Amino acid sequence: MKIAIMAGDGIGPEVVAQAVKVLRHVLPQAETEEAPVGLAGIETRGVPLPDETLALAKRADAILFGAVGGPDEASLPREQRPGTGLLKLRKELTLFANFRPAFMFPELIGASTLKPEIVDGLDLVILRELNGDIYFGEPRGIETGPSGERYGINTMRYTESEVERIAHAAFQAARRRRGKVCSVDKANVLETMQLWREVMTRVGREYPDVELSHLFIDAAAMTLMRAPKQFDVIVTGNMFGDILSDAAAMLTGSIGMLPSASLGLDRKGLYEPVHGSAPDIAGQDIANPLAAILSFAMLLRESLGLEDKAQEVESAVRSVLAGGYRTADIYQPGTHRVGTEEMGDAVVQALQARRAA
Ligand code: NAD
Ligand code: IPM
Ligand code: MN
Repeated sequence: MKIAIMAGDGIGPEVVAQAVKVLRHVLPQAETEEAPVGLAGIETRGVPLPDETLALAKRADAILFGAVGGPDEASLPREQRPGTGLLKLRKELTLFANFRPAFMFPELIGASTLKPEIVDGLDLVILRELNGDIYFGEPRGIETGPSGERYGINTMRYTESEVERIAHAAFQAARRRRGKVCSVDKANVLETMQLWREVMTRVGREYPDVELSHLFIDAAAMTLMRAPKQFDVIVTGNMFGDILSDAAAMLTGSIGMLPSASLGLDRKGLYEPVHGSAPDIAGQDIANPLAAILSFAMLLRESLGLEDKAQEVESAVRSVLAGGYRTADIYQPGTHRVGTEEMGDAVVQALQARRAA
């Protein structure tokens, strides 16, 4: 098996290094290969997704990804933005189903900004469609109108088959969980989302054992804060899913805790934390590596079929939290504050302790 390592920028390499420590421990025989992406791609090869990086992604069984992004990117042309490399990777590999679980570790209840009773026992997954929507729709760009005034244009676009395949992924995921799907859209305003709702409802009839509900995105955002435990699988489009998943992160205490898996037509997947390159804390050894480590656990489960090993890693994370280890983002008085490296080492030690026991 071959695992591609794309650490990227900012805290990406710091947190991925901890996940790789865990990988070396759990899968000592695995072949790994690194490649630059994002700003790292631009600096070494002039583009955010160099050809050899894409070729490696195609060859590999799975990709462990850090984060991309650098300063001033919002004003750069699209081809030069670090994030474009990630978007292209998701699209080229047809990774259309982005699973972003938000799970409350009991030890972190006090780290959430919400009241304990609201988040205690929280266990939901946001399934974000990753290949369509306003992220990829044409026409797009900044144009100049007849009067000389410039305007920006992006297009929200979904085909029926794109909605169908994410719908099936959502209903199948719900069958493996608590049997509930909530589809989030803006069908009261946008035609694209009217089609989304129609297709979700149609596909839902093939899964009579799964309960389907619908919410508009604004109400969904509110409900996620008011009563998040009612959700099981939330399925939504690319942009709404991006936003909702960062909000969901705060239910669990920190965005540094949220892993993700991007899956497509076969078992190959891309595994990355939900967070970005966090330039504000990069290079200080304070970033939380648990989202990256938990993403590696998802890699073990989904791409390699190693459920036992995935659970081993997740249990190790849990015991490290139970042992009081906390990075700054989840720190509470009375716990033991550690850096990025120490947190990675603690997870490896917990794995060793389990093996020895
Ligand atoms: P961000 O997720 O990088 O950071 C948001 C906040 O969360 C910051 O205060 C940061 O310090 C904190 N944070 C993030 N990860 C953390 C961790 N592991 N431990 C502790 N604290 C953590 O989002 P942003 O600041 O909006 O974006 C920064 C850059 O990252 C931008 O260039 C953006 O485009 C990019 N980005 C990339 C990805 C990705 O690669 N998948 C995702 C989101 C943002
Ligand atoms: C994410 C990020 C990306 C996205 C950016 C960096 C392109 O925010 O993975 O959540 O918007 O998909
Ligand atoms: Mn995001």
